[in-house]
Amino acid sequence: MAFSFDTKHIFVGGKWRAGESGRLIDLINPSTGEVLAQIAKGSALDIDAAVNAAQASLDGEWGEMTALERGRILRKMSDLTLERSKELAKMEALDVGKPFGQALTDAIAMARYFEFYAGACDKIHGSTIPFMNGFTVLTMREPHGVTGHIIPWNYPMQINGRSIGGALAMGNAAVLKPAEEACLTALALGEIASDAGLPAGALNIVPGIGAEAGAALSAHKGVNHISFTGSKAVGALIQKSAGEHVAPVTLELGGKSPQIVFEDADIDAAIPFLVNAGIQNAGQTCSASSRILVQRSIYDKVVKAMSERYEALIVGPALDDLNVGPMISARQKQIVEEFLQLAQADGLEIVARGKMADKLPDGGHYVLPTLFGNVPADHSLAQDEIFGPVQVVIAFEDEADALKIANGTSYGLVAGVWTKDGSRQMRMAKKLHVGQVFINNYGAGGGVELPFGGVKGSGHGREKGFEALYSFSVTKTIAIKHG
Ligand code: NAI
Ligand code: MG
Repeated sequence: MAFSFDTKHIFVGGKWRAGESGRLIDLINPSTGEVLAQIAKGSALDIDAAVNAAQASLDGEWGEMTALERGRILRKMSDLTLERSKELAKMEALDVGKPFGQALTDAIAMARYFEFYAGACDKIHGSTIPFMNGFTVLTMREPHGVTGHIIPWNYPMQINGRSIGGALAMGNAAVLKPAEEACLTALALGEIASDAGLPAGALNIVPGIGAEAGAALSAHKGVNHISFTGSKAVGALIQKSAGEHVAPVTLELGGKSPQIVFEDADIDAAIPFLVNAGIQNAGQTCSASSRILVQRSIYDKVVKAMSERYEALIVGPALDDLNVGPMISARQKQIVEEFLQLAQADGLEIVARGKMADKLPDGGHYVLPTLFGNVPADHSLAQDEIFGPVQVVIAFEDEADALKIANGTSYGLVAGVWTKDGSRQMRMAKKLHVGQVFINNYGAGGGVELPFGGVKGSGHGREKGFEALYSFSVTKTIAIKHG
């Protein structure tokens, strides 16, 4: 069944309608530079209406639902997402510029998040606490109330799955502000939710620009929790703004994640992960592995094997489903190109690059995947989040050196370690200052079940897995004196 929502509408209180101001934003197809659709430029008034609708649903049908009933609706959302996964993937490919196969993986992941949280709904519970004689003390986990979700353009479906899925599972009512650069699958979620029987107002979707609709959402006094994925700079703004009305925030702010390859590693097994984790979604991934740390004794061998893969990478339009698609926007392309110019000015060594496909559309935002070798660990390319298909290889001497380099950025999202030495695996896992460590793999295939989030500049709070349900709820302690 095809989707029928109007891309120009907002979804508030279970109804589709124009934004209050009637203003629109053009969505650009990054593969061609052409206008793909128009979306509403939501205002503070639209956000206010959405927050009120969310609160009304909590005071009404949604707030009355049992965990079992919530779970059944999420399960239906999962089934509908899977049924429509190809259509969602095509929408995402056109909107984000992501190769179709990667977009299909995202659609399936969104369904899997809804499935996971559907099953978790009625399995989260409080406890009783031994206390003074004459008392019974128990705890309950309750929803925050209205949750705000400000999401980026790079993985709309995966991030909506984990964020909206977790919030609804705990009985919150959500207001979603998708990114102005890519918005279609977020809007489609409104239709999926309606078709699955989610009560009106439990999920509201208001597209718009960050400084306007996003800022209005994080500042709104009726919002009891904000979940944000995006840049460090905006994360800091949101924390400040939510702090004004003392609302908690979960921030997932990207990283500069390393993979560390020791001389005893299974290099053949590592190579595909080293490269894929850098070029997936054209490097526009929060957990992209943009730093490859290689022990000096195997440096040449690893760089040669990575180079062979780089030289086989082909860049082209999303629906051609090649290895690498375009950047999301002309601006993101420019950010990446500025890093490449800086590298050139500083004489960094390019060891390998991908190739452009024949006959690329003129207006697409394409950049060549580029692998740099022997990059000093303190260079901007080894310190700053580039968010493009660019990786740096850094040589290290021993375990202590590897740890120092790995922990030596302002970020701490994830890290990968390649070694057969079990003791070293555990030492590294304990000493890496990050939120997730992967030993002899990277990303664990997405891992819907696995708590995810960062330390330091990568943010705080956890999404995904069961742990997200704690982020999306509060503990209430009830002490009963009965004598
Ligand atoms: P951004 O952080 O500006 O945008 C993310 C979301 O925040 C969007 O929905 C945007 O509308 C909203 N937003 C922007 N300003 C806001 C404000 N003042 N108040 C409330 N919401 C606001 O990210 P952008 O500009 O798209 O990308 C810039 C850089 O951020 C990238 O180059 C990359 O380094 C990083 N980034 C990291 C992501 C991640 O997955 N952790 C995702 C997207 C970007
Ligand atoms: Mg921005």
